[in-house]
Amino acid sequence: MAEFIVRDARVDDCDEILRLIKGLAEFEKKLHLLRTDTETLKRDGFGEKKVFDCFVAEETQSTGRSRLAGYLMYMWSFTTLTGRFLYVEDLFVERDFRRKGVGSALWASAMKLALSWGCGYMQWMAKRGNTSGINFYKQLGALETNTNNLMTFTLDEDAMTTACSKIVSD
Ligand SMILES: CC(C)(COP(=O)(O)OP(=O)(O)OC[C@H]1O[C@@H](n2cnc3c(N)ncnc32)[C@H](O)[C@@H]1OP(=O)(O)O)[C@@H](O)C(=O)NCCC(=O)NCCS
Repeated sequence: MAEFIVRDARVDDCDEILRLIKGLAEFEKKLHLLRTDTETLKRDGFGEKKVFDCFVAEETQSTGRSRLAGYLMYMWSFTTLTGRFLYVEDLFVERDFRRKGVGSALWASAMKLALSWGCGYMQWMAKRGNTSGINFYKQLGALETNTNNLMTFTLDEDAMTTACSKIVSD
């Protein structure tokens, strides 16, 4: 087992979290889409109207220097049918730390938290073809959600601006 601890992220982790976010974006070949910076993370994860929470896995070194090995970013969501649930936005473990239980430890922290709030489930998305991620989720017992006739919609910035200008006159 690697030497690491899982803890809640702190505002001074934002540079390191951004480094890991870049790692995930690179892994998913989406680096060119990345707009998030440290200031965004500070505002949206630690500011007055924060929208996400985050667990980090920190490598413990005898030198006292620390480095983050992975992170799990989550937010609370709610469905009127069953109440609160935990939505996982990102899970990423640095290559050197994989298959050492870091991802499991991060996920365990999220599961414990969700259970402590009486959540009926956790939810997240995975890209088809990400076999390592899918294998990780399957060994946890996760099932692919059958979305039946549900569709996911996205309204991008340009579409929002255009739609808004048509509806709102001022
Ligand atoms: C998926 C990921 C988070 C797993 O993290 P990890 O720290 O390596 O996971 P763990 O060591 O806790 O693995 C637990 C179990 O998951 C399964 N697993 C993990 N990685 C696997 C892989 N590459 N292939 C097959 N099974 C895997 C195994 O059953 C493993 O147990 P074992 O090592 O005793 O066989 C990590 O590989 C990662 O960051 N990948 C890139 C980003 C990513 O895919 N994130 C998920 C996006 S949806």
